[in-house]
Amino acid sequence: AKPIILRDLAKPRFFGAAANTTFLFNDKNYTNVISTQFSIFTPENEMKWESIEPEPDSFTFGPADEIVRFAESVGAKMRGHNFMWGNQLPPWVNASLTATELDKALKNHITTIMDHYRGKIYAWDVINEMISDNTPNETFKDNIWTQKFGEEAMPKALAYARGGQTAQALSDTLYNVAKGFLADGVPLDAIGFQCHFTLGQVPSTLQQNLQRFADLGLDVAITELDINIHGPANATALAQQAQDYWTVVDACVQTQRCVSVSVWGVSDDHSWIPNGAVLPWDAEKQPKPAFYAIADAFEGK
Ligand code: G3I
Repeated sequence: AKPIILRDLAKPRFFGAAANTTFLFNDKNYTNVISTQFSIFTPENEMKWESIEPEPDSFTFGPADEIVRFAESVGAKMRGHNFMWGNQLPPWVNASLTATELDKALKNHITTIMDHYRGKIYAWDVINEMISDNTPNETFKDNIWTQKFGEEAMPKALAYARGGQTAQALSDTLYNVAKGFLADGVPLDAIGFQCHFTLGQVPSTLQQNLQRFADLGLDVAITELDINIHGPANATALAQQAQDYWTVVDACVQTQRCVSVSVWGVSDDHSWIPNGAVLPWDAEKQPKPAFYAIADAFEGK
C-alpha cells in the first residue's frame, strides 16, 4: 500500500508539529517521522524569550536556526513562537525595568528576531496566552506585560510585529478584543487556537468558533493540538482519541480561512505531557489510530 503522508493529504493546508532540537538529530525514528510527515514546524522552546535573548540585546539564534534550516531542508514552512508571553522570560525582563525600558526591550526583541528570520517564517505567534482564564471577571492575564502596559500590551506587540495568536468565555473575550482591535486599526492578521484537549472534551462548537473569527477577516490556525488520554491508553481510549483528532482537523478543513493544523510534538515519548499518550505517534514512532483519523479528516472522509 502507498504510505500515508499527512503533509500531502493536508494540502492546501499545512500539517505541522512542534519541533525540539533535543531530539531532532538524536532519535533516528523521530527524525524519520519529522522529516516526512510535516509541512510546517513550530520551535517548541527555541524561540522563546529566555532561549533566544537570555541577556539584554544578546541573541542566541543557534538552536532556532537549526530548526529553520531543518525545515528548509525538508521543504517545510515555519511558525515563529512567540514574542509576548508571561512564561519562559529571562530574569532581566521580569525584573525592575520601567515601562519605558520594557517597551524598548520589547521593540528591540521583536524587530531583531524578525529581521534575522526575514522571509523564513510563515506566521508569528506575536501574542501567546494573554487572555485571562478568569473571564469575564478580568480580561487579561496578570503578567509583566499587563502590569507595565495594561490594555496597551497586546496592541503594542502587534504594532511592533505587524502580525497574531491565542483560543468559550475566554474565546468570547478574545473575540471582542479582536473585533475591537480591527475596528481600531490594530494590525492583527490571524488567531491561533492551541487545542490542548482532554480525551472526549473537544468543544462541539469548535468549527463555529473558528468560523466567527474567520468571518472578521482573520486567518485562523490550529497551533498546538494534542489530546491527553489521562489514563490507560487502551483500545477504547485510542479510538476516542482518534475521534477527537478527527473532530479538530475536520473543523479546520471546514473553515476556508484555516491555514494549518499543528500538533504539539510528534511522538508520545517526547511530549511536554509525559504520560498522557497525547500525540499521533507512539513511543516507537508507530502511527496510532489518531494518525489515520487525521488522514481521513484531511481527505474529507
Ligand atoms: O532548558 C532547561 C534545561 O536547561 C534544564 O536542565 C531543564 C530541567 O528541568 O529544564 C529546561 O527547561 C525546560 C524547557 O521546557 C526546555 O526544555 C523547562 O523546565 C520546561 O518547563 C519547559 O517546558 C515547556 C513549556 O512550554 C514551558 O512553559 C515545554 O517544553 C513546551 O512544550 C511548552 O509549550 C507551551 C507553548 O509554548 C504555549 N502553549 C502551552 C504549551 C504547553 O505548556
